[in-house]
Amino acid sequence: MIDPLAREEVPTAAPDATSPWWLSGTPLEAEHHRLMRRRNADIPWDATTVEVLSAGERARLGATWRRRAEAEYMAVSTFAVLALDLVSAMAPADVLSLCMRAGIDEVRHAELCLRMIAIYTGAHEDPPPAMSYLPDDEDRSPRDQAIANTLLVSCVSETYATTVLAATRELTTDPTAHAVLTSIYSDEVMHARLGWAYLRHAIDRHGDEVRAAAGRMVPIAVRGVANVVERERPDGEVTAAVRAHGLMTPGEERAIFARFLRAVLMPGLEALGVPCAGLADPYDDAWIAA
Ligand SMILES: [Fe+2]
Ligand SMILES: [Fe+2]
Repeated sequence: MIDPLAREEVPTAAPDATSPWWLSGTPLEAEHHRLMRRRNADIPWDATTVEVLSAGERARLGATWRRRAEAEYMAVSTFAVLALDLVSAMAPADVLSLCMRAGIDEVRHAELCLRMIAIYTGAHEDPPPAMSYLPDDEDRSPRDQAIANTLLVSCVSETYATTVLAATRELTTDPTAHAVLTSIYSDEVMHARLGWAYLRHAIDRHGDEVRAAAGRMVPIAVRGVANVVERERPDGEVTAAVRAHGLMTPGEERAIFARFLRAVLMPGLEALGVPCAGLADPYDDAWIAA
């Protein structure tokens, strides 16, 4: 008989485990590695240039990757809740499978972030606890609920994530950080696409009702992401060396967010007929400079 918790069954064939201290220590690990390898780009962990950094720079980067680990871990629950909304709304099979897949991607992203924390601080940490509670309005129909949260999670948050990750990647020259950001970025593109696809599908079938449900969530979703952009950063200067490891200034991030609203989000919403007039107005040059 197989004992599902037998310690001696733990596979030794996974020396490439990203953050082995965050695993269960049971035979489940082998299946986990198979799942995670499906879209795995090789990360050159040994190519890190961490040794050129000062102690302060390492601490600054460790704190940033800890924030990222928290966000990625939170996104696991975000997609779990969104999947419930989509099942309840009878969303098509490809939307459901990609939403479930996105939750798995976020586990992998959290693992990658933990390994980056270990590189910069030497500590083997678990992700900071974080749970996502998406808006849940009992007066909304299942479809309106699914549309509202798809808009929030995928069309706004994940689409913004792709723009900020692309820009961060561009300034990153450390090979390990660059490969990690690239790996995460390629998944986030799909996390954004699944929402736009579902929105398009629902509008094709139900027109203005869906446009209105999406439109009501737009300002709430944008404010939610702006809160994250405006959040205080960990202590420590963003030096040239820190930038080369994948960190931009808060001002640069604000500029990207303002540009994302005008060049990506609003044109996308307008193309689908979702109301968004004046959406970017509060995020002007004064806000960027604040
Ligand atoms: Fe992610
Ligand atoms: Fe994501």
